[in-house]
Amino acid sequence: MSTGFHPLTIAEIRRETADAISIRFDVPDALKPVFAFKPGQHLTLRADLDGQDVRRNYSLCVAPQEGELRVAIKRVAGGLFSSFANQGLAPGMVMQVMAPHGAFTWAFDADASNHYVGFAGGSGITPVLSLLKSALLAEPNSRFTLLYGNRDSASIIFLEELAALKDRFMQRLSILHFLEDEEEEVALFNGRLDRAKCAELLERRVIPAADIAAFFICGPGPMMDAVEHSLLESGVARDKVLLERFTIDRPDAAQAAASAARAEAAAGAKVVLVLDGRRRSISFDPALGNILENARAAGLPAPYACKAGVCATCRAKLVSGTVEMGANYGLTAAEVAAGYILTCQSVPVGTDVVVDYDG
Ligand code: FES
Repeated sequence: MSTGFHPLTIAEIRRETADAISIRFDVPDALKPVFAFKPGQHLTLRADLDGQDVRRNYSLCVAPQEGELRVAIKRVAGGLFSSFANQGLAPGMVMQVMAPHGAFTWAFDADASNHYVGFAGGSGITPVLSLLKSALLAEPNSRFTLLYGNRDSASIIFLEELAALKDRFMQRLSILHFLEDEEEEVALFNGRLDRAKCAELLERRVIPAADIAAFFICGPGPMMDAVEHSLLESGVARDKVLLERFTIDRPDAAQAAASAARAEAAAGAKVVLVLDGRRRSISFDPALGNILENARAAGLPAPYACKAGVCATCRAKLVSGTVEMGANYGLTAAEVAAGYILTCQSVPVGTDVVVDYDG
């Protein structure tokens, strides 16, 4: 992954709901290889807001086959970047955008004949829509079932696009809407996608769990936890359940104290950082808290967005030595096994730690 930002011009802004837009970027030919993406990935956008360098990750809502680069942004209450994007952006403006990244993806194969299931809640539909369209476009013999939870019908992002997809892929796409504040005739579709609802869906075989090649889950934390637990409890293999978290709860006092103690224990440890082919040796400063902040304080433009262990923008490879990592919601088990770490959550343990952002 290229770690730098690139200036991209906004080609189009489409209002999707009262509080959500999608943004299409123009990608000049020279940057097309940089912005090639896999379904389900996201972009890091950067803006200078009141003198602050603010970065956020937004998922792509398109399939690679559609030939456009488009993300969706839902305004969240008190959200600095999402409010700015929903009000302050216009076509023709230039934004700083990082190359697509993220592990919430799937290698679709034209010869496959699979059934996939997506569980989406609210703006969690964004990467799931990208995967859904990719599955249907790339695999002519595969099916996709989408279970999509929202407050009410006015807040359903991509409602029309999903209806059009349903018409186009009549035999291969099923869409089930779950609304919290509106009464449907069928009681099963009323209320939240919580644990009881998921258990019922599995029990009634609305979702034939054993036949599903992969489950893609993205939405509010409690919904994701409910779906994940229900699937695992019903015997679905861990590696078939793919999760994409947008946010997590702030660390509590005990977690914050534990991470401060971890950093303190690493005071003065030598860490070698590799970025864009350059090597820098630093002495770990615990006051900065983690390897990412140490790298940036040393003048290296190490990439980041959430700084909370969720987005994996700060991912790097641990080439040697040991680190202790706090929260990890962003790396898959396979990435951890391959030696990747979240530098915003890691502190060195002992010396000889070499961390490669290019790896
Ligand atoms: S910056 Fe998001 S996980 Fe580290």
